[in-house]
Amino acid sequence: MIFTGSHILSVEQFDRPDIERIFQVADAMQPYALRRKVTRVLEGAILGNMFFEPSTRTRISFGCAFNLLGGEVRETTGFESSAIAKGESLYDTARVLSGFSDVICMRHPAEGSVAEFAEASRVPVLNGGDGANEHPSQALLDLYTIRKELASKNRGIDGLRIALIGDLKHGRTVHSLCKLMRLFKNVHITLVSPAELAMPEHIVDDMRSAGHTVAVTEDLTQSITNVDIAYSTRIQEERFASKAEADTYRGRFRLNQSIYTQYCEPNTVIMHPLPRDSRAEANELDNDLNQNPNLAIFRQADNGVLVRMALFALVLDVVDQVDKYARDVNWYNSARTL
Ligand code: NCD
Repeated sequence: MIFTGSHILSVEQFDRPDIERIFQVADAMQPYALRRKVTRVLEGAILGNMFFEPSTRTRISFGCAFNLLGGEVRETTGFESSAIAKGESLYDTARVLSGFSDVICMRHPAEGSVAEFAEASRVPVLNGGDGANEHPSQALLDLYTIRKELASKNRGIDGLRIALIGDLKHGRTVHSLCKLMRLFKNVHITLVSPAELAMPEHIVDDMRSAGHTVAVTEDLTQSITNVDIAYSTRIQEERFASKAEADTYRGRFRLNQSIYTQYCEPNTVIMHPLPRDSRAEANELDNDLNQNPNLAIFRQADNGVLVRMALFALVLDVVDQVDKYARDVNWYNSARTL
């Protein structure tokens, strides 16, 4: 694809060379994300960050990524504090906001809403999650993390064995991740969910017709015995008709250190898009895994900054200028790693 000036709405926009390109640019962002160097390449540019659903990681890491490239961030969170609460249409909001900003990131509870907004926008729009549909930047950072974690074990994404666990019906991160993995070869996916929260059939069918192996089960322990990655997800309570309905599924698949030791291969990497639901009734990834070196959840979140920096640099066409506008940092720099 041509990145310059493009909206990033769905992972279906990408082919495999696009993914390689994004990852290559993300790798090059390391000195900046590590605060070894600063760059002013996006000096004068403004990111409009519009999050109409709760968000910690995605919103802040998009903002940090933009700041780390030298740009400024303006944001609005929640419908209550935006003119949408006064009846303004997405079209009008997009026309106005895109007059103020050079690029916009948006999260919204309705599927397709970010694409609708993008159509009216005068600047590129990046989808930060549209309902249960897609979360492209998360899938990219997930795949980037998978690649990085497996590289240290001399494995690549082709031939990957992965279990996706939890609410696969409403989880936009796993929808986007499956669509991305389709671009690789010979992926073995095990889908672990209650039958009512199964991965949408069209996504499963597309994986199979691209030659990948898809197994479906409700048995957690069996599913994690021979995988490279165990990717757990939260019950997406906000997508259910009631909390009571979500409660019936909460805590169904719990991974903790003793289950890990008993069933997983010694090097199985544990991932989660976060937030993990740490309440006793859910607790899909127990805190007793926190010292497990294969728990990649925080490395995954860290990688999000690199991948989002790469997306901004590509869409705003400054990849080749990032280093030109760089200098060393002159403040205390913690022992950050990536
Ligand atoms: C995810 C989301 O919002 O889809 N969070 C995130 O962006 N990392 C997953 C979730 O909320 O469970």
